[in-house]
Amino acid sequence: MQNVFKYLGDHEERFIDELCAYTRFPSVSAQTQHNGDVLACAKWLTQHCDELGLRAELCETDGHPVVMATTRDGRGGKSSKPHFVVYGHYDVQPAEPFELWKSPPFEPRREGRSLYARGASDNKGQNLAHLKAVEAYLRTGTELPCDLTFVIEGEEEVGSKSLGKFLKQRKRELRCEAVVISDTGIPDKKHPALTYALRGIAAFEIILHGPNRDLHSGLFGGSLDNPAMALSQMLAGLRDRRGRVAIPGFYDYVAPLSTFERKELARLPYNEKAYQKFLGVPQLFGERGYTATEQKTSRPTLEINGLTSGYQGEGSKTIIPSWARAKITCRLVANQDPRKIIQRVRAHLEAICPPTVRMEIRSGHGAEPYLVSPKGRYVTAALRALETGFGAKPLLMREGGSIPIVTDFKKTLGVDTLLLGLGLPDDNAHSPNEKFDLDCFANGMRMGAALWQELRAVHDGSSRS
Ligand code: BES
Ligand code: MN
Repeated sequence: MQNVFKYLGDHEERFIDELCAYTRFPSVSAQTQHNGDVLACAKWLTQHCDELGLRAELCETDGHPVVMATTRDGRGGKSSKPHFVVYGHYDVQPAEPFELWKSPPFEPRREGRSLYARGASDNKGQNLAHLKAVEAYLRTGTELPCDLTFVIEGEEEVGSKSLGKFLKQRKRELRCEAVVISDTGIPDKKHPALTYALRGIAAFEIILHGPNRDLHSGLFGGSLDNPAMALSQMLAGLRDRRGRVAIPGFYDYVAPLSTFERKELARLPYNEKAYQKFLGVPQLFGERGYTATEQKTSRPTLEINGLTSGYQGEGSKTIIPSWARAKITCRLVANQDPRKIIQRVRAHLEAICPPTVRMEIRSGHGAEPYLVSPKGRYVTAALRALETGFGAKPLLMREGGSIPIVTDFKKTLGVDTLLLGLGLPDDNAHSPNEKFDLDCFANGMRMGAALWQELRAVHDGSSRS
């Protein structure tokens, strides 16, 4: 095992160069102009896996391809090793607004122990760390304690539309003990963590239609409703002054935090002043009765993500806009069902919409929340691997973000997911100047290497007893 760790240390510079090559692809899944780049990135990744000695396949889907790569041989011979699936995504968020980047998003730049590029942290650096851990086993001729199959998709940032079907089609090959994902975060480098819960999501868009064209606000204003005004009034009433959502039934079924969980969450490092400064807000905000950590990881929310109407150009234009629209997402927690939430939101909006405008609601993607027991046997093994990788005691945490596919892994393959994030809060995921911390990269590779030993030991131990 020592030679595996030594290999990881000895080749770190090359691994960083490879991460640069990986992040040079503008694999933006949301923008059709980048379809060619998404495909090129998938091909590069397939070839890279192939060169490492994995059996790699570029799998077509109705959308962007899935890269699947396995350590198993193609003969389907019986293996005595437990099988694990490692999931990641090679697609990235749009890089806009470009002018806020200190260097171009797809020209990776190294500064100290940071590598700046779109996708460096979310998620290319994190999935590459796992691939490098496997490379270390293969290149040093060290027997891998587990069979592994990598599933790295190209549509995570647009809701994983094709992967659900893919999992069903390839269910037999993907039968496994558990799924491992590094696509979440940790509070800081001294506090590695295992995430045992993610929030779900329900997305929708509201459009209020007013007059059949923009109108002169002097000639007509006062005699008809203004859709921007009507929408603002409706939206403003969707929460109270502390952010509690004011939609009837919104909190039905919400699982309360247990005493054990609140104690665990309270161990996460948090400094109110520093947090406020980091966010650049004049004062913090949030639902009464919960700490900031609880508010952002364990409580549901309703947020406006985009809001537009009327004239936004230079100077002024005196009009009553013909329409107003808002993009909204709710983050959901355990036991909330995205379909039911959308129904309740729709019913509430219909009840409060004034008769002076016509409302259209378009529902978008949804994902169920995820929660797994923080006391499971594989969780305990993964915590040991985190400690080896980071050289510090790991914490248990919940995360506020969503990875829609984790509930599909549960439903289709019947297995839980170990979320072993490597991202830092200041990695700027989805923001300008995204970076990945190269210590997290190195620690992540070591964690990945240790993980297969730990999982194998637990697997053998519990199947003997
Ligand atoms: N890696 C993130 C999710 C994440 C980050 C979870 C940090 C927990 C902590 C993922 O790539 C992502 O951004 N997911 C989207 C999903 C959405 C598009 C359905 C999200 O959470 O907004
Ligand atoms: Mn993301």
